[in-house]
Amino acid sequence: MPTLKFAVLPGDYIGPEVMTEALRVLDLVARQEGFSLDYTIADVGGAGIDRHGKALPDSTLKLCEQADAILFGSVGGPKWEKLPPKEQPERAALLPLRKHFTLFANIRPGLLYRELTDASPLKSERIPDGIDIVCIRELTGGLYFGQPKTTTKLEDGDELSVDTMVYRRSEIERILRTAIDTARSRKKKLCSIDKANVLETSVLWRRTATEYVAKQAPDIELSHMYVDNAAMQLVRSPNQFDVFVTENMFGDILSDEMACVCGSLGMLSSASLGAGKNSLGLPFGLFEPAGGTAPDIAGKGIANPCAQILSVALMLRYSFGLEKTAARIESAVRKAVSSGTRTSDISFGKTSVGTKAMTDAIIASL
Ligand code: IPM
Ligand code: MG
Repeated sequence: MPTLKFAVLPGDYIGPEVMTEALRVLDLVARQEGFSLDYTIADVGGAGIDRHGKALPDSTLKLCEQADAILFGSVGGPKWEKLPPKEQPERAALLPLRKHFTLFANIRPGLLYRELTDASPLKSERIPDGIDIVCIRELTGGLYFGQPKTTTKLEDGDELSVDTMVYRRSEIERILRTAIDTARSRKKKLCSIDKANVLETSVLWRRTATEYVAKQAPDIELSHMYVDNAAMQLVRSPNQFDVFVTENMFGDILSDEMACVCGSLGMLSSASLGAGKNSLGLPFGLFEPAGGTAPDIAGKGIANPCAQILSVALMLRYSFGLEKTAARIESAVRKAVSSGTRTSDISFGKTSVGTKAMTDAIIASL
């Protein structure tokens, strides 16, 4: 059995609270299955700023470089909002990590268990079997990183800001490969989402998707959709998608919408896979819940740990090749939630439990 070597970056507010629970689950699974864990916990985000003067301390980055994967919590919050934008935890920690490790492939499963349809804002009759779709978001290109990215004071006293949307064909092909692999493991249906009626990058995106799939993956049924329509279709009939692939900014917005339709941000896990391989020959990746630091509920012991625990499952699957263990954790989460143990974000009027009790219920199903 391998030793799993990974860096643990809990971050801020609820980050450390849910991380503690995720590690509790992982420790148990490791004991049950006889593999060993070699992880070190390090500061990132606001915690990095407070203790090391930097959102991504050098020691933290070094630790990540020596690891086979990063288990990430979440960063940012009101405490650091007054800092200049470029020094804020999200921009100064998460984005550099994505760039440094070329974590171009963001996989966000949009999963709503049948037993949890009452947690979705959609009418249950629209989603009788729950929701099961996957968002593949390009994560290292587009508006987030394109240059120039500047704000200038003009001579007339006005101010001018520029963000640049850039894509290379090779970057589009690279994320398409991830999307195709994901579609192949499911229904072989892929929807590419763009704004090709307005944006040049989207025209290239659409043409590349059409040509690449025709040549490299004729077994995949490819469709295209404009992003505004996709935003509407996601709330109208989410299961029409199965797998969708889109550029960075569109994926940011659509994945939050998807999370909401799937009941709660507290349930949304994500994998960001890199271009490079780890020491096991598998993709190096960063695994994080997509819900943010939730400052309003931090310290109350009520945050939903499911997304962080499901992110552990994704880490085991993608960076350590432990598919069965990943599936076992996923099914324990499902069992716990389905049997009625729920944190406040998904309880909807019914009794809710705190972070620890939720984890206890998951552990009891393992
Ligand atoms: C996400 C988040 C990040 C993003 C923020 C925190 C920078 O919203 O992972 O979706 O915009 O990518
Ligand atoms: Mg987001």
